[in-house]
Amino acid sequence: MKFWDREEEKKHLKGYLKSEPNAILFVYGPKSSGKSTLLMKVLDELKGELYTYYYDLRLVPVSGYKEVLRIFFRERGWRERLKKAIPEIASATLKYFEIDGKVLEDMFEMKLNPFEVMENAIRGRKSRNKKKPVIVFDELQKLKEVYVNGGEQRPLVRELFNFFVRLTKVLHLSHVIVMSSDTFFIEEVYSDSTLKNCSRYYLVDYFDDEVAYKVLVNEGVEEEEAKEIVERAGGVPWILEEIVESEDPMKELRELQREAYSKLINVLAGAKEEGWLNEAEEVLKKVINDEIDIISDRKKVERLVQKEILFYDPINVVVRFQTRLDELAARELLKEGAK
Ligand SMILES: Nc1ncnc2c1ncn2[C@@H]1O[C@H](COP(=O)(O)OP(=O)(O)OP(=O)(O)O)[C@@H](O)[C@H]1O
Ligand SMILES: [Mg+2]
Repeated sequence: MKFWDREEEKKHLKGYLKSEPNAILFVYGPKSSGKSTLLMKVLDELKGELYTYYYDLRLVPVSGYKEVLRIFFRERGWRERLKKAIPEIASATLKYFEIDGKVLEDMFEMKLNPFEVMENAIRGRKSRNKKKPVIVFDELQKLKEVYVNGGEQRPLVRELFNFFVRLTKVLHLSHVIVMSSDTFFIEEVYSDSTLKNCSRYYLVDYFDDEVAYKVLVNEGVEEEEAKEIVERAGGVPWILEEIVESEDPMKELRELQREAYSKLINVLAGAKEEGWLNEAEEVLKKVINDEIDIISDRKKVERLVQKEILFYDPINVVVRFQTRLDELAARELLKEGAK
């Protein structure tokens, strides 16, 4: 599959990566807007200049502090050992902080501070080659429930943020990019006073209609059909992908519409069971009529965001439907309900 467009976004991210590290960059956006794909693309295009530590937390089970340490660190020589065992995995571009076995042990036993170990490793790498270090976390909110060594008082995410501020704003040693589609997590971070002036926020949204139309036509969809698809489904990359790869684009569109409709019915059926159906319908109507007041409607909005019907952007203070298909489904369902 070809990579589409994103010129403006690529320019923005490259601008950040080429400047001196000075702030943590939070990249957020609706589910499947193309955040990970975009960042991978940018990192790949800059691979001659960057040394990237990339952690996709969605791929790893996270339960406790020690498991998290294992995500970051490996004993020196691990790659050679793995290569002997499973060659195809070892050749993947996994990057860990590689340290001596003794250091690893001391860290697990809490005799050594893992952040100091990381900082030293980054300094060492920086002095050995000219590449700029960058640490990337995909879906960092997964660490929300982890506490330093099991103690309830020190959330690991908090410690990590302190460390990231030190790496960027204080020492200018490494870039740090955190990606998340959990915008309530982004909101928490955004309102955290210790991160003021130390963090930047960047929204990676769906393609706008013009780009979506171009993508479809370039991929061989007929102009009239492309126009209708964009009108109904908007510029969601994975939807465009499904349509482009299908034999019959209009049939696929109808299929996706049906899916959005049944997704909403399921959510509302669940809401009825749990006793918040009226609330859900009220919020949907308000979103359709652009009448949401995020201060008083917050709790109600949150549920439909979690169910992936709505999208909440805490930086620009916007609540809208996740996709245009969801909006069409809601309009239709509410109309039927009114009959
Ligand atoms: N610029 C692009 N060109 C072509 N395909 C894209 C592009 N961006 C995203 N896609 C496709 O859309 C799908 C979703 O993209 P991706 O996983 O990067 O989104 P995401 O925002 O990281 O999602 P999530 O919120 O689940 O983390 C993928 O299948 C990807 O191939
Ligand atoms: Mg992603």
